[in-house]
Amino acid sequence: MAAPPRTASPTLPTLPGRYYHEPAIYAAEQERIFSRAWVCAGHTSQVAAPGDFRTVDVGDENVLIVRGRDGELRAFLNVCRHRGARLCPAAGHAGGALRCRYHAWSYDLDGRLIGVPNMAGTDFDRSAFGLIPVYLAVWHGLIFVNVDEEEPESLARLAHAELLQRFGEAETLARYHLADLRIASTIEYDVRGNWKLAVENFMECYHCGPMHPELCVLLPGFRGGAAYQQGVGTTLAEGVEAFTLTGKASRPPLPDITADDARRYYGLVLLPNVFLNLLPDHAVLHTLWPQGPDRTRIVCDWLFHPDAIARPDFDPRDAVELFDIVNRQDWEVCELAQASMRSRAYRAGGVFVPLEAHIRRFNEYVLDKLGHANI
Ligand code: FES
Ligand SMILES: [Fe+2]
Repeated sequence: MAAPPRTASPTLPTLPGRYYHEPAIYAAEQERIFSRAWVCAGHTSQVAAPGDFRTVDVGDENVLIVRGRDGELRAFLNVCRHRGARLCPAAGHAGGALRCRYHAWSYDLDGRLIGVPNMAGTDFDRSAFGLIPVYLAVWHGLIFVNVDEEEPESLARLAHAELLQRFGEAETLARYHLADLRIASTIEYDVRGNWKLAVENFMECYHCGPMHPELCVLLPGFRGGAAYQQGVGTTLAEGVEAFTLTGKASRPPLPDITADDARRYYGLVLLPNVFLNLLPDHAVLHTLWPQGPDRTRIVCDWLFHPDAIARPDFDPRDAVELFDIVNRQDWEVCELAQASMRSRAYRAGGVFVPLEAHIRRFNEYVLDKLGHANI
């Protein structure tokens, strides 16, 4: 009997192994992706009151995000203009001014240099030594900063385009009122893997059957490897009330979501460093912080409605436990993949099967930003 005719290969190539371990490629990504893109720096509630601040590392810069007396969020390079000391620690409350520990120069919360000891009677021009501003935008309660010196493309426009492409309709996200939610739990993970492995892993569900038994009980559609459908989400199993280990709900659904939303999980990626997960009664925000070619700090925040948090019996553990298990399963396989990136077996890379084909678009995004030929 004649063999059936061969068809074109249904697979697509991944990036070659060197993209996941070479310092020069990592440095280029830091310069051409993280130092030019809008990078998510947390939730507005983490810098809620005037004088509250937090800092994040973006590319080569440490960025200070501070809420002014006028209620506005602003971002600056966290560098004292005198002799360059790092101005503020990781997070805290500054009171009325930002004061450098070294020689006590002080800056208003809006970045103006207001205090310079022992310089009275000189013609030193303080106005030339304010903090260097960084572009900041707030989108659905999430803070984004962009350390590019050139004015970047509008975040709203980019995010909208991204949403339409990967999420179906921006209105879906709006119904979750992310800005109104509050973080009730945070876990930081130190993952021995390149940041792109975490993105690629989040974008596919081919691994869900073998790796996430608990998740597949709640979302049986994931067992077959289908990634969430654009704009449709993935439906909870019959009899499952909520995205918890027991499948039981211990909080009401978020106030404005539809009955349909209350039966679904939506996941979305905002490149380069955000995974956003929408569940019936909470949201889970992952932010990725590359630490080196083979290491990524991943911060996972669980957000709930303030009314739910205010209840005396509020306990987020049923939600946290579930996604913490899923996270650890994910990071484990990212680390397994990272372990082989230097092998000659992966020098030319691997393949994406059809269920993973959409990840190739992420690889093309990286290649495009790096100015590398599409390989
Ligand atoms: S370095 Fe900040 S005051 Fe001197
Ligand atoms: Fe996963």
